[in-house]
Amino acid sequence: MGASGGGVRKVVDCRVCGGTDWQEVVSFGPVPLANGFLDPTDSYDGEPYYPLGVISCRSCRLLSVTHIVDPEILYRDYPYVTSDSDTITRHMRYVADTCRERFGLSPGSFVVEVGSNTGSQLMPFQDAGMRVLGVDPARNLARVAAERGVETLPDFFSAETASAIARGHGRARLILARHVFAHIDHVAGVVQGVRGLLSEEGVFAVEVPYLLDLFGQNAFDTIYHEHLSYFSVGTLVSLFERHGMRLFDVERLAVHGGSILVFVQRDDGPWPVRPAVGELLELERRAELDGDAVYRDFALNVDRVRDELPALVRRLAAEGKRIAGYGASAKGNTILNVCGFRPGELEFCSDTTSLKQGKVLPGTHVPVCSPEYAKAHAPDYYLLLAWNYSDEILRKEAGFLSGGGRFIRPIPKPVVVSADAL
Ligand code: TMP
Ligand code: ZN
Repeated sequence: MGASGGGVRKVVDCRVCGGTDWQEVVSFGPVPLANGFLDPTDSYDGEPYYPLGVISCRSCRLLSVTHIVDPEILYRDYPYVTSDSDTITRHMRYVADTCRERFGLSPGSFVVEVGSNTGSQLMPFQDAGMRVLGVDPARNLARVAAERGVETLPDFFSAETASAIARGHGRARLILARHVFAHIDHVAGVVQGVRGLLSEEGVFAVEVPYLLDLFGQNAFDTIYHEHLSYFSVGTLVSLFERHGMRLFDVERLAVHGGSILVFVQRDDGPWPVRPAVGELLELERRAELDGDAVYRDFALNVDRVRDELPALVRRLAAEGKRIAGYGASAKGNTILNVCGFRPGELEFCSDTTSLKQGKVLPGTHVPVCSPEYAKAHAPDYYLLLAWNYSDEILRKEAGFLSGGGRFIRPIPKPVVVSADAL
């Protein structure tokens, strides 16, 4: 293990309700950053590790990470490029179509995206003649977005940036925040900023991993330092209420292992509250998210994978099987590091992202290679670290499977997938 990093602080007050009565849920000890890909070197002694775990606020049931790493460390140079996988491309098209049709957007409407990455989600709006503005602190990505023709402010979204945007561009009909809200510590400031930037009929569309899916799928690999909050609909409703906003609709989606897309407006906004909100609140009530037991059960399920997965991989290795990783996702790094995998246990990790190829994974230092290299050096087993793209990947790798290759799907519990399972 490398150095324990500076730039980290322990969570004391709940970022949603201010409460301080926390239930401890899981604690993984010191873990390197999930997107902390490294250049290969002889020694990784300086690699920063930070404590990782989650706790649940007994007042509002926000599930929060235990320690917050300085966002300047996490995001200024960020290797995560919004996936151009079929799954995500289709999903972004769906989000754009849904918002356009439901909320009466038309050419000239102003659309802002928080955490806009390389601009892919804004492009369909821009193509339909709308004015768009991305906001993303990753300077490397904001540059790429600008080169692709999507105007992007290379900064963190805050109440201050929101009012500067309103002054310069006017109010927004739609503010998008896909898989970024869970990354934000100062949620109150961001929600206030959003409220000030939205027009009267404006909509804030937020997509986050869903707490019920985290538990239902045992998707503990979404737990990493970037994800500060794990939300239920109930917690989001109370968060927005505190800041003069109303959550009026919600959809469950399969992306990223199970997410919710919630639609929020100012509390004087025109959109009627849809039945889906009450239905999910009822589901959450029945799941007893307000009691301690469900969080204890989750911790037991996580421990089971932490025991079984390394045992399975080590048994196969002892039988002489060659094992590699498939998909160098941030989630995958949580799995490897939280399960205690060591350097050398995976021969390589295949990934389509050119920014990651040639680097090594944080913690385990497994070399990341291109799919072409992987194909030429196909192992006996792939550990499916990008399990959230399971269908797409198994389809794509039908040849590997029919040639006798196998996948290990780690979550919800480790299983081996071979051609006859298709
Ligand atoms: P994500 O879950 O954060 O989108 O990360 C998925 C990672 O998996 C990303 O680095 C791209 C990679 N990947 C592949 O290597 N092959 C694939 O077929 C897919 C869908 C993803
Ligand atoms: Zn709370």
